[in-house]
Amino acid sequence: MQIIRSVGELTDYVAMQKNHHHAIGFVPTMGALHAGHISLVERAVRDNEVTIVSVFVNPTQFNNPSDLATYPRQEEEDFRMLAEAGVSAVFAPTVSEMYPSGTAREHEYDLGSAAEVMEGKYRPGHFQGVAQVVHRLFELVRPDRAYFGEKDFQQIAVIRNMVESEHVDVEIIACPIRRGADGLALSSRNALLSEEQRRRAPGIYAALSESVEYARTHTVRQTHEMVVERINAIPEMRVEYYEIVDGRTLMPVEEWSESDFVVGCITVYNGEVRLIDNIRYK
Ligand code: PAF
Repeated sequence: MQIIRSVGELTDYVAMQKNHHHAIGFVPTMGALHAGHISLVERAVRDNEVTIVSVFVNPTQFNNPSDLATYPRQEEEDFRMLAEAGVSAVFAPTVSEMYPSGTAREHEYDLGSAAEVMEGKYRPGHFQGVAQVVHRLFELVRPDRAYFGEKDFQQIAVIRNMVESEHVDVEIIACPIRRGADGLALSSRNALLSEEQRRRAPGIYAALSESVEYARTHTVRQTHEMVVERINAIPEMRVEYYEIVDGRTLMPVEEWSESDFVVGCITVYNGEVRLIDNIRYK
């Protein structure tokens, strides 16, 4: 596996692959890799002749400086996992390599109304930062296919909107959430949980999955209340938002009959650690 640190080296590497007509699969990450990331990588390795993974903690998508400072980092371990999974090259630049003229955004992306709700509302600027880095990475890597995990359900919708508004020629592939044996969605942030918080964290998925059965005989509003109450009753847990939305537009639904694709998206503070998850009702 080639380890690439500079934009120049990456550009040359990609040009060489394009000359050989190799299909490029791309998995953008912020490192602190877990089995969820590796499942995206394995899919990319299966689908493409070449797989490139980026490992870059993007400062422009953090609206909270302490969240950026405490974001887990484990580069050596990440590289070992990627090499084992059959990755062709990893791109791990510094912040100044990615943003040579500074991190200020020169361009406001058109991300549609999907970027205004939920994460967009609670983390102002977050999706503009995600769009900025993913667009830059797409320009450099020029992938045929890019792979994203459905844990960040809203992020996928926003990236699809960015790809459309910026006319980027790439196929976006959404891959299912990977969970621990106890149901907790795998996330780099799980590493920040204390033993006690980690023990309670599966309560989020337990409430979500229970609510799918509950929803068969209850309204959207009742289902919403049940999930919020169940999770808020767990010590140290606080639901920041729970939204039951149309899976395409991400706009809230009030009746189950309003859409044939309904997803519940949740963010929960477990102590200081912010966890997200989602469940499909329809
Ligand atoms: O999902 C993530 O890890 C990040 O938002 C991404 C897509 C790598 C952009 O920094």
